[in-house]
Amino acid sequence: MSVALTMAIPFVIAGVVKHKITGHKPNTELSQVAGNVWLCKGCAPLGCLANMTVVRVNENQLVLFSVAAAEDATFAAVEALGEVAVIVVTSEHHTSYGAAWAARFPEAVVVGPGPMLDVIREREHVPVTAAAEDVLPALGIDVVTAPEPACKGREQVYTFAIDGLDDGAASRAMLLGSDLVVNWQADETPFADLCGFEGLGRARLFSVIGIPDHAAWARFVLDQLEAHDDVDVVMFGHGPPIVGDDARATVVAAVSSPTGQIRANRASTFLVQFAMLAGLAWGCIALARRFGLF
Ligand SMILES: [Fe+2]
Repeated sequence: MSVALTMAIPFVIAGVVKHKITGHKPNTELSQVAGNVWLCKGCAPLGCLANMTVVRVNENQLVLFSVAAAEDATFAAVEALGEVAVIVVTSEHHTSYGAAWAARFPEAVVVGPGPMLDVIREREHVPVTAAAEDVLPALGIDVVTAPEPACKGREQVYTFAIDGLDDGAASRAMLLGSDLVVNWQADETPFADLCGFEGLGRARLFSVIGIPDHAAWARFVLDQLEAHDDVDVVMFGHGPPIVGDDARATVVAAVSSPTGQIRANRASTFLVQFAMLAGLAWGCIALARRFGLF
């Protein structure tokens, strides 16, 4: 195990402890982002908040990305919007509730990133049957898969038409995978500090476990943002969407910065400081053992 990964473990442990202390939060109600797009914020098993994105296509068909916890109120709210046609498991890390939603909506096709289907199916027991890139384009959703150096889990970027934003001009939204780019907010800390940071860009823990080549990651994300000048809503697996003419430029600025982030300046909580010290101690012990000091 690498020293970097070893040092990341206490952050995750502290996140789980925090979750055990504060408990599971129920899903939020669906909030409308555009005429055909909704967002639900749910609590992941690790304790952090994660987004479920709902997109309505062809007037009555729903595509669900990164489903939230299987709660009756959320099921009912989704059913009121249309017919669930596709459930997208966006990443090997966002699989917790996929099986429950697939059982609730057996007519839906369950898809995931093509290169990761076996991993998601066998390790996470989610019944994915097709690649997202083979199913979603027919519904008007473009899919681009990150190359392996940019994202080990081969997360995808989804781009689709939106309606009802303002002047009726054609515009589109872009969903940047699950963890590919995040927009953690203060209400999601201290977990945001523990496994990432508060702000916009590349999360710290994901940088270690999910992004083999940070330069390749930046190139891939920037290519997607620059290829779609009609995108004025950028969405994330964590954190609120960024809406408006400056949305792409804001994300471009974060991704292309030296650290891949625009980070909020906020003092770390005691729990975070404790976890960081524990991580440092753990890493020193790992190094000492590696060099046979004891
Ligand atoms: Fe995530």
